[in-house]
Amino acid sequence: MGLQLGDVTPNFTANTTQGELTFHEWLGDSWGVLFSHPADFTPVCTTELGEVAKLKDEFAKRNTKVIGLSVDPVEKHIEWEKDIEETQGSAVNFPMIGDPGRKVADLFGMIHPNASNTLTVRSVFIIDPAKKLRLTITYPASTGRNFQEILRVIDSLQLVDKYSISTPVNWTEGQDVIIATSVTDEDAKAKFPKGFKTLKPYLRLTPQPNK
Ligand code: BEZ
Repeated sequence: MGLQLGDVTPNFTANTTQGELTFHEWLGDSWGVLFSHPADFTPVCTTELGEVAKLKDEFAKRNTKVIGLSVDPVEKHIEWEKDIEETQGSAVNFPMIGDPGRKVADLFGMIHPNASNTLTVRSVFIIDPAKKLRLTITYPASTGRNFQEILRVIDSLQLVDKYSISTPVNWTEGQDVIIATSVTDEDAKAKFPKGFKTLKPYLRLTPQPNK
């Protein structure tokens, strides 16, 4: 059985484009996004890394550190980063793990042998400050990820951790949220002073509490 939501993520020491690091120490008290790339000098990955570099401030606002990985060595990542800056207009500003021995890729189950024996799939892991896995998504090598969706999930998780709520379909920051069914109507009145709409006893909507 691979890594599952709620598991404490594996710790590891790895060589990166920003020097050697130990994952849990590097994360510190931050949230983290670990994402894998099939290989260096590939087109979809080039666009993804440029986009994530542009989102630096968005991740920082969310107290989230980002780290990439491919099974190529760090020296190759460094060469590739020149192309990323040139073609995407943004320099890679987060560490990229070099994992030619697939140590980290295997720990996180990033190699799916029936897709490819040698390349990682496009995995995304969102990790909370307790180092627990809160989201995993796996994309095929041929589809670039939507990093607005990753930011959206971080927003949702951070809100859910503060209030007794969940977030509905297609929710984005600022929209109404759902009151947890464990909260009675009586308690909801105190907890959510902006009020709430009851569509069904199990479906009560309230304005986002921290807005
Ligand atoms: C890419 O990043 O473009 C890519 C990598 C591996 C397989 C297919 C596409």
